[in-house]
Amino acid sequence: MSSTPFDNRGNKDASIVNPHGQGTAIPVEAGGHARPAPGGPFLSGEAMTGGYGKNGPDILHNCSISVDRGEIAVIVGPNGAGKSTGMKALFGMLNLREGHVKLDGEDITELTPQARVVKGMGFVPQTQNIFTSMTVEENLEMGAFIRTDDITDTMEQVYELFPILGDKRNQPAGELSGGQRQQVAVGRALMTQPKVLMLDEPTAGVSPIVMDELFDRIIEVARTGLPVLMVEQNARQALEIADKGYVLVQGANAHTGTGQELLADPDVRASFLGG
Ligand SMILES: Nc1ncnc2c1ncn2[C@@H]1O[C@H](COP(=O)(O)OP(=O)(O)O)[C@@H](O)[C@H]1O
Ligand SMILES: [Mg+2]
Repeated sequence: MSSTPFDNRGNKDASIVNPHGQGTAIPVEAGGHARPAPGGPFLSGEAMTGGYGKNGPDILHNCSISVDRGEIAVIVGPNGAGKSTGMKALFGMLNLREGHVKLDGEDITELTPQARVVKGMGFVPQTQNIFTSMTVEENLEMGAFIRTDDITDTMEQVYELFPILGDKRNQPAGELSGGQRQQVAVGRALMTQPKVLMLDEPTAGVSPIVMDELFDRIIEVARTGLPVLMVEQNARQALEIADKGYVLVQGANAHTGTGQELLADPDVRASFLGG
């Protein structure tokens, strides 16, 4: 087991690392991305168990998800698998019955979502992630709500990343196309200058061309050193750009590996990638 890329992580459940008792011979050095960064994962949910409300059934079962510095980590899995619930758990929108959330080594399990934003977490939820009646620029200003310093430079950086938003800065965000709205949502999250970016289905409902463009921008963001954790329905394309991937099934880790390992895994291919 000592040669697996994940053995320094908090969760020691070997089924997550290697659910089928194979594959430990895969060289960690290939690409090198899956090796834990010095100091361990930047953001991690460790053995998370919990559901909605006080007495709701558990949706997550001993679920572990993490993203390292400089990494793109991707969560895929069938509808209802608990991908969004996992993201909400990391962001503090769920009361975990068991497990922990850590950010840069600090246990933040008990922090509110707002306190997590202050700590450096940027989250783009799957739905209702922009204010449709406000202009693009007002959305970005709202995104910066925790800041008291000058946000002009950050806003210009967002417009550089997404030039169309600069062109449409005075239009109500609700008038934009689906792909442009997602850019507003990502831009809004970037306005806090987060240390980690979490995106829940950033390409939902957009055309393949727009999806490719969004992925390119996300890669660009990640290359600046910002760790990105994202949920994606377009599993194959997302795993192509993933340093690390998680397949969730029924709220539990089913497969974990580098993006390339998962793309090559016969079980993952047959069950989740259409062969
Ligand atoms: N707000 C909620 N209250 C109660 N149950 C919920 C809520 N949101 C999602 N669920 C349930 O949690 C499970 C996982 O949903 P979700 O995390 O949205 O899956 P995914 O994002 O993988 O499609 C589903 O059974 C869903 O019905
Ligand atoms: Mg979801």
